[in-house]
Amino acid sequence: DTLSKVQDYLEPFCLSLQKLREVSNLLKKDLVKGLGRHSHKNAPVKMLPTFVRSTPDGTEKGDFLALDLGGTNFRVLHVRVEATEQKMPIIGSQICTIPQEIMLGEGDKLFDHIAACLYDFLVSKNLKGQTLPLGFTFSFPCEQKEIGKSILIRWTKGFKCSGVEGKDVVQLLKDAIDRKGDYNIGPVAMVNDTVGTMMSCGYMDQNCEIGMIIGTGTNACYMEEMKNVKRVEGEDGRMCINTEWGGFGDDGSLEKFLTEFDREVNEKSINPGVHIFEKMISGMYLGEIVRLVLVKLTEAKLLFNGQTSKALLTPGQFETRFISEIEEQDKGLENTQKILEKLGLGRDMVDSRVVRLVCDTISSRSARLCAAALATLANRIRVNRGLSHLKTTVGVDGTVYRKHPNFSEELQATVRLLAPKCDITFLVSEDGSGRGAAMVTAVAQRLARQSR
Ligand code: BG6
Ligand code: GLC
Repeated sequence: DTLSKVQDYLEPFCLSLQKLREVSNLLKKDLVKGLGRHSHKNAPVKMLPTFVRSTPDGTEKGDFLALDLGGTNFRVLHVRVEATEQKMPIIGSQICTIPQEIMLGEGDKLFDHIAACLYDFLVSKNLKGQTLPLGFTFSFPCEQKEIGKSILIRWTKGFKCSGVEGKDVVQLLKDAIDRKGDYNIGPVAMVNDTVGTMMSCGYMDQNCEIGMIIGTGTNACYMEEMKNVKRVEGEDGRMCINTEWGGFGDDGSLEKFLTEFDREVNEKSINPGVHIFEKMISGMYLGEIVRLVLVKLTEAKLLFNGQTSKALLTPGQFETRFISEIEEQDKGLENTQKILEKLGLGRDMVDSRVVRLVCDTISSRSARLCAAALATLANRIRVNRGLSHLKTTVGVDGTVYRKHPNFSEELQATVRLLAPKCDITFLVSEDGSGRGAAMVTAVAQRLARQSR
């Protein structure tokens, strides 16, 4: 019958525990490769040093500005870190939209836009006269030389501004602020969103030594032993490493796990060949994978009486948020019917069930792949420390993780199977990047004070 024929098409998306273990073993090798002495250029998983050496100890304090660029929203924030309180208040925040033409235009225009948003924020909050330290959450792979110098390796996700790759993003921001004139900022700390997320959760839970994002893109960071970080001098203590696990598979290592649909998504993306693992997992791509499968099933006459629609044939029209709506426990079927109608498609009961099965299969693969990657990190931390059992906390953020009805459950259950010697607590970060960037800046100041 229809469902079993559909299953045949979906089979390549179903990854057994055995296969997930294979994925995990491949990643395990790539982590080591990325940490090596050579430059990151030949490593698919870049393992970038972040110069964050310490998680919060709870004594940090001060007022900070934060910028958060690279997720769904660009935001400017004013954050207060107080030693006495557990919760770090966000005193003010503002979302600024970044138009598509700026995301794909000239780099200077992007930074002018950011400087203008920051200016408006400072004026509206009466902060213009102050020179506050700024934490800049910039969610792209950067080679950092120190906390305040960060060279963009390449754009990922939906950005492709000219003249930024290979440049110091802090300098580009400062130049734009100078061009704008009339205001100043204090020292800048650059942070990846994974690091911001880990640090903001670290303020609440000092066991938090991993940060993970499953949103527009996917990535994770964790605390690595300095002696294993070959590209930074020093053997003592730990440093947070931004893995950039989205690039896993860029050397072809995941070839046998890819489906024809993954290949098509990659080929049609603005960065073919780059961030292969991310393209199987994150919000920027999940909807598109589902759309391609639905087209295929329709052409095989297993859906919608073989009738496609203009919307179904248009890239990007099947949004990732539809997947969450369709898989919702109670209202799922009702939502499916509405979405299919909106896309100009037939909506009988069998069609709706098939569509839900497709969504379920693809989101579940995403959750299981993330679980394999996270298990690899947790196991690495455990072995690094010579522990037979590790208790640790992961700070998490991202729309896919937050909004999908059973993604987090499936991820957690799968991690338990893949890393049975690790007891992992998951903490969803609230305003992670804003608070986290402030936190990184605050920790850097504390360490400077303490070493004086
Ligand atoms: C946000 C963080 O909450 O989550 C961002 O503040 C991060 O820094 C984002 O990039 C990730 O999720 P998404 O779904 O917006 O890409
Ligand atoms: C992309 C970026 C990475 C970021 C992730 C999540 O993978 O390259 O830096 O952390 O998206 O936003």
